[in-house]
Amino acid sequence: MREQMLEVKSNRGRIIPCCPNCVRYYTNCMSSSDNAATKMQRIAAVARAFTPVTPVGRLEMLAGRMPQLTDIVNAVSQSGQHVGLYGERGVGKTSLANVLAEFFSGALQEHVQAVLVNCSTEDSYETIWENVFADLGIPLHEDEVAALSPENVRRRLQGLKPPALIVLDELDRLNDDYALTALADTMKTLSDHAVPSTLVLVGVARSIGELVGEHASIVRALVQIEMPRMSVPELSEILTTGCMRAGLDIQPAAVEEIAVLSEGLPHYAHLLGLHAGQGAVQNDRDEVHLRDVQAAIPKAVERHTILNDYQQATRSAHRDALFAEVLLACALAPKNPLGFFTSGAIRDPLEVIAGRRLEIPAFSNHLSQFLEPTRGAVLQREGSKSRYFYRFTDPIFQPYVILNGLSEGLITDEQRRQFQTAEDAAELIPGEFEPNAPPKLF
Ligand SMILES: Nc1ncnc2c1ncn2[C@@H]1O[C@H](COP(=O)(O)OP(=O)(O)OP(=O)(O)O)[C@@H](O)[C@H]1O
Ligand SMILES: [Mg+2]
Repeated sequence: MREQMLEVKSNRGRIIPCCPNCVRYYTNCMSSSDNAATKMQRIAAVARAFTPVTPVGRLEMLAGRMPQLTDIVNAVSQSGQHVGLYGERGVGKTSLANVLAEFFSGALQEHVQAVLVNCSTEDSYETIWENVFADLGIPLHEDEVAALSPENVRRRLQGLKPPALIVLDELDRLNDDYALTALADTMKTLSDHAVPSTLVLVGVARSIGELVGEHASIVRALVQIEMPRMSVPELSEILTTGCMRAGLDIQPAAVEEIAVLSEGLPHYAHLLGLHAGQGAVQNDRDEVHLRDVQAAIPKAVERHTILNDYQQATRSAHRDALFAEVLLACALAPKNPLGFFTSGAIRDPLEVIAGRRLEIPAFSNHLSQFLEPTRGAVLQREGSKSRYFYRFTDPIFQPYVILNGLSEGLITDEQRRQFQTAEDAAELIPGEFEPNAPPKLF
């Protein structure tokens, strides 16, 4: 019978899975069958530590984000204040909301009860609140659901003990315009009546105005909290703590490579951390090297949900059509903090990728086509004919294009570094992500 696996502390202070007889590294003491089982166990430990598609659920798994957490905790602690949490897709909004809910329902259980409800395209004002009250342990009858209005909701929340922290995630998915108006009215009446419960509205948007539209203007008590992309140190923390949890060390060069390639989006830090960590385990190492990151890139791109969109954007019957090359040059072009670039900025990276200098007329048709639905409208354009500004419609697409370019050999890692450096990544993280700012470049 196979011996039960334990976790022991290595002589460098790391926890590594090990058999009961082992006093040092697992590789030094395993029979080959046990070795295979242990390897699988270590691979599973890496998969638990790096979760590219699952939002963080617990505070100890959350890297960085102290400024945003502090702002929210301050707002929630003020009676009559509500929160609008907004940011690009994939920056970690749900993770922060989860941690907040866990914090308030865990540490402060006797003071606050937290519920988190996801909005969907099918939802109305009534179904949102039906879900909220069900999660609060107050199921409503059909006729009570039909009667839900801002005043009715306010009355129900007024007597609630302990008060509630109500997180409504994915608000941008709501199609029902009345629901947004009624939610704004609800915040206003909760605030006017000093009801101690707090609403936290979460959604993909560049500004709270975009998130709740016209309705925001009437809500004075709405604290706006932006979720910027993560900084290089925050992304590095995901990697170092993730590796530590999986019983691995990671070389600083590997951390930096992943942090820069992630472009501020924690999804990619988890994705590359997962494959690089598992690569190290496969090779019987307990340290992740730069070469593990390089080997992780093809694995990260080939099964990604974005692959189909990428293929749609770049497909062509002609081998020299340059769609993949131009899109990669767009991904590497210098950008302003809002992600905008000009066609002129594409020339330098395109020269390196294509191996020859191409002027704007040679690729302006490609840019126009990237705006079209037939190519998935992967780019969007602002400005006027005298000067257009482009950016990726879905920010999560841009790092993918670079990873795919590396995987397909369109560019070498060394060439990529000419355009994507740790210093640039640190500067480009749009902390000052101005809502609705004009696309002013540099
Ligand atoms: N602070 C963090 N520390 C560690 N991992 C994080 C952090 N924030 C987010 N992540 C990870 O990044 C990925 C995306 O996070 P999350 O789903 O919370 O983003 P989101 O902004 O809600 O995305 P969407 O816009 O698609 O709803 C997840 O894998 C999550 O585990
Ligand atoms: Mg989310």
